[in-house]
Amino acid sequence: MLQKINIPKIIGHRGAKGHAPENTIASFRKAKELGVTWVEFDVKETEDGVLIIMHDDELDRTTNGKGAIAKKNWAVIKELDAGSWFHSSFSNEKIPTLEETFLLLKELNMGANIEIKPCPGREERTAIAVGKAIKEKWPQELPPPLVSSFSMDSLVTVKKVYPNLIIGALFETLPDDWKKIILKVQAQTIHIDHEVVNAKMIQEMKDAGYPVLTYTVNDQKRARELFNIGVHSIFTDFPWKE
Ligand code: G3P
Ligand code: MG
Repeated sequence: MLQKINIPKIIGHRGAKGHAPENTIASFRKAKELGVTWVEFDVKETEDGVLIIMHDDELDRTTNGKGAIAKKNWAVIKELDAGSWFHSSFSNEKIPTLEETFLLLKELNMGANIEIKPCPGREERTAIAVGKAIKEKWPQELPPPLVSSFSMDSLVTVKKVYPNLIIGALFETLPDDWKKIILKVQAQTIHIDHEVVNAKMIQEMKDAGYPVLTYTVNDQKRARELFNIGVHSIFTDFPWKE
């Protein structure tokens, strides 16, 4: 059965990626300050199974570490600087854990789109861990999170672990058999690159009962065009209050 969920129109992408180092506590706080009520962030696992907030498979771009996250333990990862690459004023930022992020969201009274972004080969393992973490630790005061992934294996797995979860299917482009995929993963929303959609496609997805969320929309004029053709929500690096 489909659950009701109130998804806001504007969602902060990796927090407020344009203003602060992505996927950090500072970025989530900045998104709140800018007036959005939800943030999106990416979750993956360290070698020893700690769930962390991180986009890339490698440490190099967004930290002072090097190499594959899948091969590093939390004891090493927790010491890294995840902010200086963006600006020296963020040198105290660390890679947050999922659990720490749940507590912050509770403090800020913010909802979330949790994107499962498994390191290659860990699609099921990471989804099991994320499903358990949400089931046991998601703050009950907050609206239920929307859980998305480009990995359909992760989505099928997370839904098995926690059948109540609300699932969003992430696509780079819309596959011909999207309806079949959506039914298989039991998704309630479709998340897709704004550059590959048009009014007809949006209408088709809406007619089938699926709200469409598009990423990454940093231009407010473009956001208005998308809302006018029926897009439900947008992910943006530069959040604003609607
Ligand atoms: O969830 C929307 C968007 O974050 C998907 O792409 O690569 O930024 O995680 P990416
Ligand atoms: Mg993401």
